[in-house]
Amino acid sequence: MSVSLPAPEPVYDDRPVRLFALATVLWGVVGMAVGVFIAAQLAWPALNFGIPWLSYGRLRPLHTNAVIFAFGGCALMATSFHVVQRTSRTRLFAPWLADAVFWGWQLVIVGAAISLPLGYTSGKEYAELEWPIDLLITGVWVAYAIVFFGTIAKRSVRHIYVANWFFGAFILAVALLHVVNSAALPVSFMKSYSAYAGVQDAMVQWWYGHNAVGFFLTAGFLGMMYYYIPKQAERPVYSYRLSIVHFWALIFTYMWAGPHHLHYTALPDWAQSIGMVFSLVLLAPSWGGMINGIMTLSGAWHKLRDDPILKFLIVSLSFYGMSTFEGPMMSIKTVNALSHYTDWTIGHVHSGALGWVGFITMGSMYYLIPRMFGRKAMYSTRAIELHFWIATLGIVLYIAAMWIAGVMQGLMWRAVHADGTLVYSFVESVKATFPFYVVRLVGGLMYLGGMLLMAWNVVMTVRAGREPGAVNALPAAPQAAHA
Ligand code: HEM
Ligand code: HEM
Repeated sequence: MSVSLPAPEPVYDDRPVRLFALATVLWGVVGMAVGVFIAAQLAWPALNFGIPWLSYGRLRPLHTNAVIFAFGGCALMATSFHVVQRTSRTRLFAPWLADAVFWGWQLVIVGAAISLPLGYTSGKEYAELEWPIDLLITGVWVAYAIVFFGTIAKRSVRHIYVANWFFGAFILAVALLHVVNSAALPVSFMKSYSAYAGVQDAMVQWWYGHNAVGFFLTAGFLGMMYYYIPKQAERPVYSYRLSIVHFWALIFTYMWAGPHHLHYTALPDWAQSIGMVFSLVLLAPSWGGMINGIMTLSGAWHKLRDDPILKFLIVSLSFYGMSTFEGPMMSIKTVNALSHYTDWTIGHVHSGALGWVGFITMGSMYYLIPRMFGRKAMYSTRAIELHFWIATLGIVLYIAAMWIAGVMQGLMWRAVHADGTLVYSFVESVKATFPFYVVRLVGGLMYLGGMLLMAWNVVMTVRAGREPGAVNALPAAPQAAHA
C-alpha cells in the first residue's frame, strides 16, 4: 500500500515581505509622530510657527495619508504577500514585479510626503494626492493585483483560504474606488478639478471614503486576522462556515453605507436613509467576524496570560467590536445630529485606527518579522509586553478624552435659551475642549512611545542575524526545500 505524503513546502519569495514589513514600522513611527505633532497644535496653535508647510491644514492630510496608506498599506502588502504564498503553497507570481510594487509604493509615499506639506491637494479627504501621483498609484496597484491574483492562479492547492478572499476583495475594491473617485480634469502639473460637481461629487467622495474604511482599513486587516490569529493561537478558525458568510455579508453591505457621512446635507433624504439602514445592518457581519476571531481562542484562553502577541491580536478585535458598534449608532440620524463635526467622530476613528488597525498590524508584524529574518522570536518579549500595555493605556486616554469632548461640544452647540439664543459662543466650547486635547496628546505620546519600542525591538531582531532551526530561514536557497 502506498502512502502519499504531503508535498514539501516550496521556498517562498520573501524579499518583498521583508521590505514591506520594515517599511510598516518606519512609516508607523513617522505617521504617528505627525499625529502627535498635530494633536499638540490643536492644543497650542502657535506650534505651527507661522510656517506654511508646518500648518495644521497641510500636516493633517500628511498624517492621515502616512498612517493609512504608508503604515497600513505596507502592512497589508507585507502580510498579503506572506499569506498568499503559504496558503496557496506556491511562490509569488512574478517576484520581480512584487519588488517593483514595493519601490513604486515608496515613491507614492515620498510623493505624498513632499506634495502635501507644499500645499498641493485635490481637497478630497483620504484622496488628497494630485493627479500625477494618482496615476502612479493606479500603475502600482495594477502590478500588485497581478502579483496577488497571479499567485492565486498558480496555487498548488484547490481551496482558496478565506484570508485570500478578504485580501482579494480589498485589492479589487480599492482599485475601483480609486479610479472612480480620482477621475479629474488636470489643468496644470499638480492641479486638477474633480470630474463630478456639487452633491454628486460629495456622494462619490463619501462612497469612496466609507469604502476606504471598509476595504482598506477593514477587509484587508480581516485577512490578517484569519491567518495570524489561528497561527499564533495554534487553533483552527472557530467556524470556517461563518467566515464565508462573514465575507459575503460584509462586502455586500459596506458598499451602501457611505451616505451616513452626508446626513442633513443636500443629498436626497432617501439616500441618507439608505446609508443609515445599511450601516445598522453592518453591525451583524462585523460582529460575526469579531466573534469568529475571538472564539478561535476556544480552549486556548490561558495562552493570553503570557503571550503578548496574542494580546495584541485579540484586543484588536475588542476594539473592532467597539468601533463597529459605535459606527452604526453614529449613523442614526438623530445621534449624528449630535456627533457630526465634534471630536466624537475623532474618538470613533481612533478606536478603530489605533485599537483595531494598529493592534492587528502590530500583532501580525511581531509574528512575521522574526520568521522573515531567520529568528525563532523577537529580540525582546518583555518589550512586546510593555508595548502592549503603554499602547493600550494610550488608546484609552485618547478615545475617552475625545468622547467626552465630543459629547460636550455637541451639547454646548445645541444649548439654547428660552428665547432661542445660544447659551454658549463657539469659542467657549473651544476653551472647554482644551484639557481634553492635552489628555489626547498624552495618549498619543504613549502610543507613539510603544511604536518606538517596537522599532528598537525590530532593529535588534534583524541585527541578531539567523538562528539555527528557525523557520523560513534567510536567504531562501531553492535547494533548501523546507521553508
Ligand atoms: C500616535 C498616534 C496618533 C495620534 C496622536 C493621532 C492624532 C490625530 C489628530 C490630532 C487628528 C486630527 C483630529 C482633528 O482634526 O480634530 C487625527 C486624524 C486622523 N487620524 Fe490620527 N492619530 C494617531 C494615529 C492614527 C493611526 C494609527 C491612524 C490610522 C491607522 C489614524 C487615522 C486618522 C484619521 C483617519 C484621521 C481623520 C479623522 C477624521 O477626519 O474624522 N491616526 N489623528
Ligand atoms: C459597522 C461599521 C462602521 C460604521 C457603520 C461606521 C459609521 C461611521 C459614522 C456614522 C461616522 C460619522 C460620519 C459623520 O458624522 O461624518 C464614521 C466616521 C468614520 N469612521 Fe466609522 N463606522 C464603522 C466602522 C469603522 C471602523 C472599523 C473604522 C476604522 C478602522 C472607521 C473609521 C471611520 C473614519 C476614518 C471616519 C471619519 C470619516 C471622516 O469624516 O473623515 N469606522 N463612521
